[in-house]
Amino acid sequence: MISTNIEEAARLLMEGEVLAIPTETVYGLAGNAFSELAVRKIFSVKQRPHFNPLIVHIASADELPCIASDIPDKAKKLAGAFWPGPLTLVLPKSATIPDLVTGGKPTVAVRVPNHPMTLALLRSIPFPLAAPSANPFGSLSPTRASHVEAGLGEQVPMVLDGGPCEKGIESTIVGFVYGEPVVYRLGSISLEDLNKVVGDVSVYTRDQQTPPAPGMLDKHYAPKTRLILTGRISEEMQKHDPEKTVALVLQKRDDLPAGTVQMQLSETANLNEAASRLYDCLHQLDNEGWGLIIAERMPDEGLGRSINDRLERAARHD
Ligand code: TXA
Ligand code: MG
Repeated sequence: MISTNIEEAARLLMEGEVLAIPTETVYGLAGNAFSELAVRKIFSVKQRPHFNPLIVHIASADELPCIASDIPDKAKKLAGAFWPGPLTLVLPKSATIPDLVTGGKPTVAVRVPNHPMTLALLRSIPFPLAAPSANPFGSLSPTRASHVEAGLGEQVPMVLDGGPCEKGIESTIVGFVYGEPVVYRLGSISLEDLNKVVGDVSVYTRDQQTPPAPGMLDKHYAPKTRLILTGRISEEMQKHDPEKTVALVLQKRDDLPAGTVQMQLSETANLNEAASRLYDCLHQLDNEGWGLIIAERMPDEGLGRSINDRLERAARHD
């Protein structure tokens, strides 16, 4: 049931239920982070493997000492600059966080989401909320209440409707190695913006041996429709049936084969707007029943990097 009733959402959470909540990034599937039963429910509704840990959502940075046992200076700086907002910090966990939340890891992922309804909800309950994105495991993240309803349907008693998500792409996840920040997942905060606060940050790359964020290696963030990511979209378009193929482009192009249907992410080639519309456009193309999506690679700067990261994963069909 789609609803805007925050008191009812709080009541359901107090009873140990899990439900969908809006954030500025994507909708989350939330439950009491201190309750093993609620956390188990999250994993089972999402059909997510237990080794893939969840993000803990808190109402304010003041609660951080209850969640994390050690907070490096640069983590404090980042929290000060970006919370509430789309930054997730991975820190040594405190004993109060169940192992189930962290997939048995000694660290916990935590953030203060920037959505007025969810902040009000968090302030009205005496526990933090564990919440992965509110989509079935491996599929596209939801950026509207209707996406959650279509993906999880009757499995949740309530989808708290906070409108379309402002950022539209998941939080940027930052861990620490000897106090120095490492980006585990590109997201709604750009590397350039992190640099301004803490200087150079390194980015975890896929060729490294052990993925710090277990969800990072497999195919994720994928539409149902097959997707190809390319830097040469007009050449690629010519290889496929124009009736069944749609082009996903940053801005409308005039060099594509005549009659090509184009979905543009931003009229003004603005990468922030493009990021905010990415999943919504992919949900829409899935619903339209195309045989193939050919997506244009974005410029490798700002949120263009985060969009490319998601499109690369969506294009992996293994
Ligand atoms: O924007 C977001 O981050 C959204 C909203 C709902 O907050 N949440 C989200 O959650 O994207 P999820 O579960 O779809 O992705 C969380 C990622 C996973 O890749 C997981 O592996 C990583 O965070 N993660 C969680 N705990 C971790 C930890 N202790 N160490 C490393 N990675 C962790
Ligand atoms: Mg997810």
